[in-house]
Amino acid sequence: MDSVRTRPRRSVGEAGIRSRLTRRRDVADLVAEAGRGQLRRTMGLTQLTLLSVGATLGTGIFVVLGQAVPEAGPAVVFSFVLAGLTALFSALSYAELAGMIPGAGSSYSYAYATLGELVAWVCGWCLVLEYGVSVAAVAVGWGQYVNELLELTVGWTLPASLAAPPGAGGVLNVPAAAIVALAMVVLLRGSRESAVVNAVMVAVKVAALVLFCAVAFTAFRAGNFQPLFPLGMAGVSAGAASLFFSYIGFDAASTAGEEAKNPQRDLPRAILLSLGLITALYCAVAVAAVGAMPWQRFAGTEATLSEVLIHAVGGGTLWPVLLSVGAVVATTSVVLAVQYGQTRILFSMARDGLVPPLFAKVHARSGVPRANIVIVSAFVMVLAALVPLGALADATSIGTLFAFALVNAAVLILRRRSPGAPRSFRVPLAPLTCTLGTLCCGYVMWGLGADTWIAFGLWMAVGLAVYALYGIGHSRLGRPAPRTESTE
Ligand code: ALA
Repeated sequence: MDSVRTRPRRSVGEAGIRSRLTRRRDVADLVAEAGRGQLRRTMGLTQLTLLSVGATLGTGIFVVLGQAVPEAGPAVVFSFVLAGLTALFSALSYAELAGMIPGAGSSYSYAYATLGELVAWVCGWCLVLEYGVSVAAVAVGWGQYVNELLELTVGWTLPASLAAPPGAGGVLNVPAAAIVALAMVVLLRGSRESAVVNAVMVAVKVAALVLFCAVAFTAFRAGNFQPLFPLGMAGVSAGAASLFFSYIGFDAASTAGEEAKNPQRDLPRAILLSLGLITALYCAVAVAAVGAMPWQRFAGTEATLSEVLIHAVGGGTLWPVLLSVGAVVATTSVVLAVQYGQTRILFSMARDGLVPPLFAKVHARSGVPRANIVIVSAFVMVLAALVPLGALADATSIGTLFAFALVNAAVLILRRRSPGAPRSFRVPLAPLTCTLGTLCCGYVMWGLGADTWIAFGLWMAVGLAVYALYGIGHSRLGRPAPRTESTE
């Protein structure tokens, strides 16, 4: 049985294209809808923070660092700071909007309340890149560490044909697809279980990074930082564009607004807390890594942090094995948290009628949108099996940066349109902060390659076609509220 009943599609000409594209969700209505939500409210500040940290610490720090160091040299630490600042400006905007509009749809919901339906659709479509495509990228990193672990422990690795996609010397990336399937099984059991599994994995990966720093600092050589900027500021910016991927996910708490016990209070805190923790860890890891291994040797590394430890300890495998176990767990938790976020964004879009109602169907016993989880997981599995890591990471970054720019703009618009609306958190020094946030997003996007821009253009064209053919005619706005029912 369908959970959301929709009327037959109406002709687009009825209400006038323009008013349809700019129609907005009412903020009070969004808040009320979040209050009536069918999803279970089980998450406190700790779980929400862990959800964001779980969605963030992963392939970026364990693998993509190895691509950024050759771009920036020892100044990669400043690349982290630059990428972190871009994330911070947007995190502040996310915190304000998550406190005002605590639904499950993240920036998609914020855009719907401020910039209108078309922009909301564009934002939701970008979030599929931020969440759906990044899960695939992280799953590929997971596979690389599984292979490293096999090599360190049993001296054998999976053949390239089964461990890499067509563009990277293989046929099918089986480990990457397998971890996505495993995450699907966990998510199907319900969010409370997912949050517990996630908390354990976050503890393990933070421990792995602390262990990395402790061991790498024993081999620290200050000379590795001379010269500090061998590739100049251009290198720092290029490194920041690559490393931006490692910050993606801090906003994951904003997809759990309807499962949070006190979303207005806890969502902004969780977002900022997680970003602070992550930035501190990243900078420490970057200093430890470059201090332990000359920056020129990072080029071509796959399981980067493990390879730094092998260099630092000079041959023993205990620490690299422990680190690799941590990396496998780390990337598992990112897959879990981000795959969760993707299903909840589509859930919100389906409830608004912009994607088919199947995505909003909640299973009564488990309290989770089961069909949604299965469809999202299948899509991610195909990407993870067939597309190389670099292309997936860059596509993720460009979509995320675009969505972040929209979130910064949404804060400015809401400040002007609804200055007196209750806000549990306010961006300090707005509008300056939000403007800087938008500019930083544009700057980092600019650093991404032409291929990425072309792929992004194609993705947006497909998205606009889907909206024109389905969303605009099925949108819930402008007709009586649909009924939502639980199903077995
Ligand atoms: N930030 C996430 C990672 O680095 C996507 O794995």
